[in-house]
Amino acid sequence: MRVLLTGGAGFIGSHTAVSLLEAGHEVVALDNLYNASPESLRRVEAITGGKAPLVIGDCTNARDLDRAFEAYGQIDAVIHFAGYKAVGESVSKPLDYYQNNLDATFMLLRAMKRHNCRAIVFSSSATVYGTIQKMPLREDFPTGCTNPYGWTKWMNERVLTDCASADQTLSVVLLRYFNPIGAHPSGRIGEDPSGIPNNLMPFICQVAAGKLDHLNVFGNDYPTADGTGVRDYIHVCDLAEGHVAAVEYAVEHPGTEVVNLGTGEGYSVLDIVHTFERVNDLRIPYEITPRRPGDVATVYADASKAKKLLHWQARRNLDSMCRDAWNWQKQNPDGYGKDKE
Ligand code: NAD
Ligand code: UD1
Repeated sequence: MRVLLTGGAGFIGSHTAVSLLEAGHEVVALDNLYNASPESLRRVEAITGGKAPLVIGDCTNARDLDRAFEAYGQIDAVIHFAGYKAVGESVSKPLDYYQNNLDATFMLLRAMKRHNCRAIVFSSSATVYGTIQKMPLREDFPTGCTNPYGWTKWMNERVLTDCASADQTLSVVLLRYFNPIGAHPSGRIGEDPSGIPNNLMPFICQVAAGKLDHLNVFGNDYPTADGTGVRDYIHVCDLAEGHVAAVEYAVEHPGTEVVNLGTGEGYSVLDIVHTFERVNDLRIPYEITPRRPGDVATVYADASKAKKLLHWQARRNLDSMCRDAWNWQKQNPDGYGKDKE
C-alpha cells in the first residue's frame, strides 16, 4: 500500500519510513521541516534502496495536503506524526500547540475525505494516562493530562474516535508511545534535537560526546529500586515496526483501537546510565539534583494488546538501544548538521 507520513522527516517518521519500505510498502512524506531536515529522507533512501519522496508543506494547509495526496498516486492510509512535541514549551506557548496539533488533524481528516483515504494511525503518547495510576498502564485506564502538549494528544484521540463513530468507513488506530530511544543500527538516521535536549537519552549522548559536561539525574528519592525514575524505553526501530503492524491492521478494520507501544519493562535513570557506559565503554559523569516538577516515579506499559491485536512486540533490548543511540551520535556529532538543507 502507499502510506502518507505527515511529519515523515522527523525522528519516528524517518524510522517508520524505513520499516514500511522494508515491508514492501510505498511512502510519501509531508513535512514543513519545522523540526526536521530533508536529509533524513535521503538517508532513508540510502538505507533501503527505495523511494521516500518529501512534499514540503504544512499539514494545516489544505492545498499542501492536496499536493501530498495527489503527487504520487492514491494514498491508502496515513500515519500522522506531524506536531509540536516539547512539553515545557507547550506550557509557555499553549496556543501554538493547540493550534498546530489540532488544526493539523482537522485539515488532514478533511483531506482524507476528499481523497477517499479511510485509514489513519495517530502518534499519541503515554502522557495521556496522567499521573495517578496503577502500573502497568492498560489502554482502558482513565486518561487526563498535566500539560498542553498532553492535552493536544488527548483531544486528538477524542476527535479521531468521534469521527470514526460517525463514519463507519473510517479506521483509526491511536498509538500511545512510551519512551522511544535509540536509532537505526546503521547510524545514518536518528534523533536530532535542537538546543539542549530535554529528554534523557539525547542528553546522555551529548554528555558522552563531550558537548555537555555532566548529566543531572532528577531525583534519587523516588520509591524505586535505586531511587531514580523508571520508564518504559522502547527502541525506535521496534516502534517503527509497530507502525507497520498498525497501518496494516487499520486498512482492514474500520472503527477505533487504542494501543500501547512499549516493551512492558521499566528501567531507571541509573540503569540507562550504567548500560550506556557498559555497552559503549564510556563514562557518563552525573550529579543528583532535585526532582523535575511534574515527573512521576514509575511509568511502564501493559504491552499485551499490541501483541494480541497487531501481532507485534518489541524485540530489541536496552543494550541495543544504548549502542544504537551512541552509534548515531558518534557518526553525526551535529545531527544532520551541514546536510540539513
Ligand atoms: P519530530 O519533531 O522529530 O517529528 C515531528 C515532525 O512533524 C517534524 O519533522 C516537524 O517538522 C513536523 N511538523 C510539525 N508540525 C507540522 C505541520 N503543521 N505540518 C507538517 N509538518 C509538521 O518528533 P518525533 O519524535 O518523531 O515524534 C513524532 C510524533 O510522535 C509527534 O506527534 C510526537 O508528539 C509523538 N510522540 C513522540 C514521542 C517521543 O518521545 N519522540 C513520544 C510520544 C509521542
Ligand atoms: C517525556 C515527556 C512525555 C513524553 C515522553 C515520551 C516530559 C516532561 N515528558 O517523558 O510527555 O510522552 O517523554 O518520550 O518531557 N531525566 C533525568 N535527567 C535528564 C532528563 C531526564 O534524570 O536530564 C529523567 C526523568 O526525570 C525521567 C527519565 O529521565 O525519570 C526520562 O525522562 P524523559 O526522557 O524526559 O522522558 P519522560 O519524562 O518520561
